[in-house]
Amino acid sequence: MDKILIYGPSRLHGTVSISGAKNAALPILAATLLSSGWNELNNVPDLKDIDTIIVLLKHLGVQIEKKGRQVMVNANRVERYDAPYELVKTMRASILVLGPLLARFSQARVSLPGGCAIGERPINFHLQALKKLGADIHIEQGYVCATAKQLVGAHISFEMPTVTGTENIMMAASLAKGTTIMDGAAREPEIEDLAALLNKMGAKITGAGTSRITIEGVSELKATSYSVMPDRIEAGTFLIAAAAAGGQIEIENCHPAHLNTAIEKLKSAGVKISTTENAIIVSADGSFHSLHIETAPYPGFPTDLQAQMMVFLSQISGESQLVENIFENRFNHVAELRRMGAYIQVKGKTAWIKGRASLSGAPVMATDLRASASLIIAGLVARGKTEISRVYHLDRGYEYLDEKLLKLGVRIERLRTKER
Ligand code: EPZ
Repeated sequence: MDKILIYGPSRLHGTVSISGAKNAALPILAATLLSSGWNELNNVPDLKDIDTIIVLLKHLGVQIEKKGRQVMVNANRVERYDAPYELVKTMRASILVLGPLLARFSQARVSLPGGCAIGERPINFHLQALKKLGADIHIEQGYVCATAKQLVGAHISFEMPTVTGTENIMMAASLAKGTTIMDGAAREPEIEDLAALLNKMGAKITGAGTSRITIEGVSELKATSYSVMPDRIEAGTFLIAAAAAGGQIEIENCHPAHLNTAIEKLKSAGVKISTTENAIIVSADGSFHSLHIETAPYPGFPTDLQAQMMVFLSQISGESQLVENIFENRFNHVAELRRMGAYIQVKGKTAWIKGRASLSGAPVMATDLRASASLIIAGLVARGKTEISRVYHLDRGYEYLDEKLLKLGVRIERLRTKER
């Protein structure tokens, strides 16, 4: 398993270009199951999770050709409708094939994703909503077994926003008979990106990005071409890295509007941030004061930036609070940050972070995708060498992060071992 070494402290200088969004590319790749013919997808990030969903789609019979960040996909020859446990357990977003398989092929057998490091993460909202659309669903040997001769539009109300739940239903309802209204829908930009692709394929979806989405079912969807939106969490990760480590960087190829809450929070601490339509310029020198942050569904502060923000909060003055409202176990990075010298107390879903902590480099272990990004940022701040193991977590969701940091002036290197 690869390791990453960082020699800190290391300020950031220069320009970084943001890659395509993992959490938009995954549902968009799943949505190609809804059409026949060749779809051309561009700006698809080169990530482990993308490799995983490509393996799953090929398992179903989908033809896929990946050339760099362009992926050609044709679901003409799908002849299997099952997503096996061996694949789903490595990436829970595999559940995104459930809605499209049901809608186009009237059947699906998808392994229950099971829990993960950050929480139990059930899919009950997905299943309740699919049943409302007329699917017959039962659980057998850890698999969701679903059939539906013809899905029929319905009025669905989610008791709390679910990103992939909203995406699964949006895809399923696109080929249902009649109209579906989703209330309490998640509002993430990745959902708008998926809706834009589906509408380009001939779907009739309005309201994506708001909490009420209306889908008028159509009889078939056609293959198209589409370019995936930039990754707002990658952009936010670089923003927080610069704020924590100091220096001045320009983050280009991004949509600052997707990061309003995070940008406002950092500005309120005193970080100098300016934005254009597709770039963020951050210069972070000086002292910043404490913050109270609560994660929330979009457009609130993203849970996917919580771990990264904790490092910034450990460097500013005063004591800050970080409340994790989305997942019940998303503080796995705290123990490792403590080993580097951070003073963090956790009680329930609240973490109290003492500022001005002097971090020192140490051997640390990544536990999940965003925790690994947090350890990288801690390595930038800490004095001495930080050695991060299990960086396969990082490679799931960040495209060439070490190479991008190298270009920003960081002394960082990847120790490659045999298996990828
Ligand atoms: C998506 O996960 C993202 N993944 C996550 O990003 C992100 O953290 C999360 O949304 C929240 O924003 C992808 O888009 C592939 P949810 P998802 O359904 O859809 C509960 C990353 O780091 N819930 O919005 O799985 C659930 O337990 C990843 O890139 C139910 O109870 O999240 C959680 O507490 C991590 N029942 C809350 O809702 C359900 O049926 C929000 O989950 C569904 C969800």
